[in-house]
Amino acid sequence: MADLYKKSTSEKGVFNKNKFEMLKNKPCLASHVISIGMKRDEKERLPEIEEVEAVACAVQNMCLTATAYGVGSYWGSGGITYFEEAKPFFGLGPKDKLLGFMFLGYPKSDWPEGKRKPIGDKVSWVE
Ligand SMILES: Cc1cc2nc3c(=O)[nH]c(=O)nc-3n(C[C@H](O)[C@H](O)[C@H](O)COP(=O)(O)O)c2cc1C
Repeated sequence: MADLYKKSTSEKGVFNKNKFEMLKNKPCLASHVISIGMKRDEKERLPEIEEVEAVACAVQNMCLTATAYGVGSYWGSGGITYFEEAKPFFGLGPKDKLLGFMFLGYPKSDWPEGKRKPIGDKVSWVE
């Protein structure tokens, strides 16, 4: 991740050393890192957005499974996520999408508290 970041951003003249160091060291704090990708249906029978949504649903299930086992999880889309040149490393073609990385590990501290607003703030009931 860090090497590709360095190569691509240096070529474009936007290399940031702090970001490079972060990409080199931070993922190693996780026990496991799973890359998240969307493989586009070859015949493009579905709208692309629905394939992305399906991946997000799968990731949510992975998060819930991890939580059930006491494993912390976090989906991040930083670093090289949207770099076109990162795709081949993950077996993704031009029409596929790299959507980020799931970081997994046992939390060092107590289980973190969510900061969500009440569901009532997000739902409008129409009668
Ligand atoms: C597609 C996607 C990408 C995300 N990328 C980042 C990210 O790059 N950095 C970040 O701090 N949070 C990112 N998040 C948010 C975290 O994954 C997580 O949802 C957030 O910390 C809230 O967690 P909680 O809802 O369990 O409290 C992303 C979430 C999604 C759905």
